[in-house]
Amino acid sequence: MPGFELIDQLERNSVLEVFDKSNGVLFAHGFDVRRNNIFRVRDFEIKFAKALGGRKAAACTSGTSAQYIAMKCLGIKAGDEVITQAFTFIATVEAILACGAKPVLVDIDETYNMSPRSLEEAITDKTKLIVPVHMLGNPAEMDAINAIAKKHNIPVLEDACEALGATYKGVSTGLLSDIGIFSLDFGKTITTGEGGMIISNNENLITTCMKFIDHGHDCDMTLPRGKDTASFYGFNYRMSELQAAVGLIQVERLTHIVESNRNHKKIIKNELSNFTDKIKFRRITDENELADTIIFNLESPKLAEKLIGNLAAQGLGTKNVPDAMRWHFAKYFSQVWNNTSYYKNYENQWSVSDSLLSRSVSLPVMVNWSEKDLEKITASISTAISLL
Ligand SMILES: Cc1ncc(COP(=O)(O)O)c(C=O)c1O
Repeated sequence: MPGFELIDQLERNSVLEVFDKSNGVLFAHGFDVRRNNIFRVRDFEIKFAKALGGRKAAACTSGTSAQYIAMKCLGIKAGDEVITQAFTFIATVEAILACGAKPVLVDIDETYNMSPRSLEEAITDKTKLIVPVHMLGNPAEMDAINAIAKKHNIPVLEDACEALGATYKGVSTGLLSDIGIFSLDFGKTITTGEGGMIISNNENLITTCMKFIDHGHDCDMTLPRGKDTASFYGFNYRMSELQAAVGLIQVERLTHIVESNRNHKKIIKNELSNFTDKIKFRRITDENELADTIIFNLESPKLAEKLIGNLAAQGLGTKNVPDAMRWHFAKYFSQVWNNTSYYKNYENQWSVSDSLLSRSVSLPVMVNWSEKDLEKITASISTAISLL
């Protein structure tokens, strides 16, 4: 699955170079002479955007802050409604709340992403943003979602935190809408430990995000930083040079990570296709998904529970569904709904998503599996299913 599997001497050397070549300047800006004019955060942003085929990217501290920054720079404010999906990560909802806006959460469909039909039903005069989340590597139905957004003249922000490396009809996730965000935390396709990236082909929008990340600084290179100008105020969401030093190496690993995921997933899925009487795979919107996860559903929650027991007996765990549902399905976000005025009846909301997720099992696909590992894992999953 993630970039952490590949961390080695290259990342180590890159971090050491911050000290050896740039005299330990850990800050993204200024100190030009001391750092020998090497700007790793800036270089990482350029390299990241290029790797995805996008025009411009802005690095920041996390996927959560990326989400918030993008929303603020799109002008989301109190009184607005932002539509996202009930199966997500809690950060999506937190970012909406941090803007003072109302989160409107719609059901998912068999893609395990935003249902375009539920989206359209939820649009009101107050809807100011649509946030599809490409959950667990599978791009959302972007054609349908963008068509609805266009019809109602509402911008779209993709939460692509879990789908870096996936493409939909040949275009990278994050670049399928007005703006996209990624997480670079330790469980993601590539990692900087903590970190986030915002991407768009709208260069002005990314420039605004860059300013917001850095207290509003215009970053006018002809001026000393202390005399830099600003037209609005922001906050501090800056990435450090140490994170970027790791990111610069990790982004070079992206193609390998994605290819490995896809090969491994294909092998396991082929084997599991013998069991289509017992399991139903998630609908994949593009074969060039990230492929770091296999999700399927069974006939009942009881059967899913039994399978999880069988998998555990084979030494296999699950990924997010069901083990981290507490953080991924809005029905369990009690800390949000008990402290806001939205969704007082949250335990009985999102029945379509609930029915699907309560019967679902999701398994991780790792990058570094050897042929032998794959054989063993495939055999263990097959045994666990055949014992149902
Ligand atoms: C879908 C989704 N959105 C947002 C985030 C937040 O990213 P971060 O952990 O970098 O803040 C995550 C991270 O798990 C995520 O999976």
